[in-house]
Amino acid sequence: MDFTLSEEQLMIRDAARDFARNELLPGVVERDEKQLFPTEQIRAMGSLGFLGMMVSPDYGGSGLDTVSYALAMEEISKVDASASVVMSVNNSLVCWGLENFGTEEQKRKYLTRLATGEIIGAFCLSEPEAGSDATSQKTTAVEQGDHYVLNGTKNWITNGGTASVYLVIAQTHPEKKHRGINAFIVEKGMEGFEIGPKENKLGIRGSDTHSLIFNDVKVPKENRIGEDGFGFNFAMKTLSGGRIGIASQALGIASGAYELALKYSKERKAFGTEICNHQAIAFKLADMHTQIEAARHLVLKAAWDKDQGNNYDLSGAMAKLYASQTAMNVTVEAVQIHGGNGYVKDYHVERLMRDAKITQIYEGTSEIQKIVISRGILKG
Ligand code: CAA
Repeated sequence: MDFTLSEEQLMIRDAARDFARNELLPGVVERDEKQLFPTEQIRAMGSLGFLGMMVSPDYGGSGLDTVSYALAMEEISKVDASASVVMSVNNSLVCWGLENFGTEEQKRKYLTRLATGEIIGAFCLSEPEAGSDATSQKTTAVEQGDHYVLNGTKNWITNGGTASVYLVIAQTHPEKKHRGINAFIVEKGMEGFEIGPKENKLGIRGSDTHSLIFNDVKVPKENRIGEDGFGFNFAMKTLSGGRIGIASQALGIASGAYELALKYSKERKAFGTEICNHQAIAFKLADMHTQIEAARHLVLKAAWDKDQGNNYDLSGAMAKLYASQTAMNVTVEAVQIHGGNGYVKDYHVERLMRDAKITQIYEGTSEIQKIVISRGILKG
């Protein structure tokens, strides 16, 4: 078994690490506090190829593998999880969904601009009454001549205000339940498409999360993704890969907090020595490091599965479940190691602790991951 990363994968990881330290770190505390979207930084990430990492160069992407994407996600997330969720949604959900299931015309029109970061995208599945229970879509898409008419509300949509292109899941044939659902490409500015107020969140406060309202929005038929009724399948397949992105984000939040705690413990003195020399702290570091290494193996295994063409529903769900639990455990311990300083914004770990929580909620809660995992193992 070979755990060695390729030269190219190491180069991508290092480029993401440098970008995070040089470009994301300087304003991250202020962006979190004031809920400022990292507009310039996201533009720069687009220029560097971080927003369409796995997209073929034919459509403006970087043509890299999922392992490289996971490594870059980890590095960006160590410093700024708000920037990394924008990156994750654009790469895993929007670009991947369009590249794999869009028509040639849809790819030329939308994917080419999304992959370069000229515009960014949003993935719109959740609703006020359909979060985990994703089959219960209330947003409707009624066929009328050469278009569909969309009505309904979506909730907690990442990139809700900043996106230009929205992949919207809606019910067309309610009698067919999830087999009657469709996915559509909706453009910002289409008549009747309204962006609701920005959510005031616990963490990832630099990202913008909104509800979206659709009032008789006319969407051309050519904007439907896949065959009639493919929408739920589209959402599930897309989310399976998305979970690898969020698992990498959780891993990055954990490893970012761990690195800060390790450094702090070697500098801070108490009872006559650096605090890392006290077993109470050293044992915490040992647990944190072990959990992070285990999470990293699960994340890279899921990414590798995807690159090999193996099924990654199970490995992706396990990676997300464990890495998000690790992000919570490790960030709480990192704050504890920092003591009073850990409770202060300048030391970064309190932000990472707040950011960690969302990784147990979005793209399927931990409970949803356990459903996917248990069904997978019982199916054999
Ligand atoms: N790939 C392809 N198809 C899949 C699939 C997958 N990974 N998982 C399920 N399906 C298909 C099933 O085959 C089935 O289709 P058929 O009946 O035609 O065979 C259909 O989907 C329904 O499956 P289930 O009967 O298993 O559905 P369920 O309702 O019992 O459970 C679930 C499904 C796994 C719980 C699903 O509802 C789910 O994943 N829920 C969580 C949704 C979620 O992750 N939301 C996050 C919002 S997006 C977000 O957060 C983005 C962001 O902004 C950051």
